[in-house]
Amino acid sequence: MASAQPGNRYTAVAVFLHWIMALGILALVVIGLTMAHVKLQPLALFKLYQLHKSIGITILLAAFLRLAWRLAHPPPALPASMPPVERKAAEATHLLLYAALFVLPLTGWALVSAAVLNIPTVLYGIIPWPHLPILSTLHNKAPVEHVLTRTHAYLAWALIALVTLHAAAALRHHFLLHDDILTRILPGRSPRGANRKPSQ
Ligand code: HEM
Repeated sequence: MASAQPGNRYTAVAVFLHWIMALGILALVVIGLTMAHVKLQPLALFKLYQLHKSIGITILLAAFLRLAWRLAHPPPALPASMPPVERKAAEATHLLLYAALFVLPLTGWALVSAAVLNIPTVLYGIIPWPHLPILSTLHNKAPVEHVLTRTHAYLAWALIALVTLHAAAALRHHFLLHDDILTRILPGRSPRGANRKPSQ
């Protein structure tokens, strides 16, 4: 496997995927909560659902790319000073975040496939996206749709909690522990204490 980047940084591709997906997930959470809990006109609601589904499927496709990149480019090592328990907590959080990148969009895709209303998904108003075969042909869709909708919502809340924990840990490293954990995943920033090279 390839080694970490010189200067203890993430690769530019990893940095790009991290922040573009973070932005996508933030948008999904805001749009998802709005469409599920705010009373809107039917057309506005329909457009929000389509946008939510479009960004969600994009996140699913990007998750495959990100996982492949991660397997080929291991992240830079954690600081040697980090206690084993924090190391394990960071690894577990990252594993769960990766799992969420797949499981959340898949449950979303599954719930719209099992939906009684059977509304088609057209990504960004351009690309028709199919329903999952078995779910879309069920005889009694209502209970399946209900369970999948609840599952998607609970998982979304779990993801919100996980992302909050993840961001709080990054801020703690930056502002309290003064190490390079946050700067090495920021675009165009050298890790603390490292000399910036012109090519970086
Ligand atoms: C990382 C990806 C995703 C995130 C973070 C996410 C987040 C959310 C959130 C926060 C909600 C509101 C939950 C509630 O409080 O009731 C929601 C609802 C929903 N999501 Fe997603 N979502 C994702 C992917 C998808 C995908 C890929 C689809 C479909 C292709 C989808 C379809 C839906 C639908 C239809 C609802 C409304 C369910 C209802 O009728 O209440 N989501 N999502």
